[in-house]
Amino acid sequence: MTASEEKYSRQTLLDVQPLTPSLFTLRTTRDAGFRFRAGQFARLGVVKADGSTVWRAYSMVSSPFDEFLEFFSIVVPGGEFTSELSRLQVGDSLLVDRQAFGYLTLDRFVDGRDLWLLSTGTGIAPFLSILQDFEVWEKFDRIMLVYSVREAKELAYQQLLAELPQREYLAEVAHKLQFISTVTREQHPGSLHGRITQLIENGELERAAGVELSPEHSRVMLCGNPQMIDDTRALLKQRGMNLSLSRRPGQVAVETYW
Ligand SMILES: Cc1cc2nc3c(=O)[nH]c(=O)nc-3n(C[C@H](O)[C@H](O)[C@H](O)COP(=O)(O)OP(=O)(O)OC[C@H]3O[C@@H](n4cnc5c(N)ncnc54)[C@H](O)[C@@H]3O)c2cc1C
Ligand SMILES: NC(=O)c1ccc[n+]([C@@H]2O[C@H](COP(=O)([O-])OP(=O)(O)OC[C@H]3O[C@@H](n4cnc5c(N)ncnc54)[C@H](OP(=O)(O)O)[C@@H]3O)[C@@H](O)[C@H]2O)c1
Repeated sequence: MTASEEKYSRQTLLDVQPLTPSLFTLRTTRDAGFRFRAGQFARLGVVKADGSTVWRAYSMVSSPFDEFLEFFSIVVPGGEFTSELSRLQVGDSLLVDRQAFGYLTLDRFVDGRDLWLLSTGTGIAPFLSILQDFEVWEKFDRIMLVYSVREAKELAYQQLLAELPQREYLAEVAHKLQFISTVTREQHPGSLHGRITQLIENGELERAAGVELSPEHSRVMLCGNPQMIDDTRALLKQRGMNLSLSRRPGQVAVETYW
């Protein structure tokens, strides 16, 4: 085995589920030695027809305790990685770097009462992992999962979210979670209408949650579209909420997808 081969393991696709023509979920086997914290990402590799391997970062959807790995992917038209990934079928191989990466993890926050998880598109992935791990339910009194998509058909993992309260280990704490979806390019019953940034600016997000965004109590994680992250960070900064760094604990943690 060469040194580079030792840096990754070869996993097998167990399931692939299309959600829309541009979104799908995939589940793979998991190397027994692959450890991660909820909210982290893996580097996935696919081998192209010319024999070269292309690598991209993917957040785990599954919890650190699941025996499998699950991912939620966009298909970028002409995208080097997703063109290959979306062609894979059950039984095919996917390379997974042996190390997990990323700081969108609960240890970013030393305190806080209300956790806001703000996502666009596939950026919901790390939050699904966090919600399937018990730590978040112990650490926070209220958890607001906010999920912004263009069209209602892009709202993924609705069944997983609906079934979370039925998991035995969450029965007593599941009431802490509020799920707030927002659909930006059509009206959708049961969802808000407008970008996360607009909903923060006009107060609609806090009204929908019945919870105030405040530096004292709120801790905010942002994931997905880089412009959403920049714009939301600017809004939160105006309210006294800043990036949490190890040398200066704050209220905000981010993961930018491109
Ligand atoms: C830390 C991290 C975690 C990530 N986790 C995920 C994940 O869980 N699921 C996932 O689908 N992608 C995720 N990504 C993005 C992923 O790494 C690739 O960018 C994506 O697979 C597209 O690869 P590509 O080669 O086809 O296109 P690229 O050449 O990588 O991207 C081309 C363009 O496509 C758009 N784009 C890329 N990714 C997305 C996306 N996720 N949603 C919307 N538009 C996008 C951007 O405009 C980008 O410039 C993550 C990225 C980072 C940095
Ligand atoms: N052709 C299609 O049917 C189709 C469908 C899906 C995706 N795509 C392609 O896939 C790529 C990604 O699409 P995506 O929908 O997953 O991701 P996206 O463009 O990041 O949109 C996801 C959500 O984030 C919101 N958003 C975008 N910028 C924001 C900002 N600055 N502040 C706050 N919210 C913001 C969007 O609202 P807005 O709706 O207001 O932008 C939408 O609700 C795009 O390049 C797109 O071309 C195409």
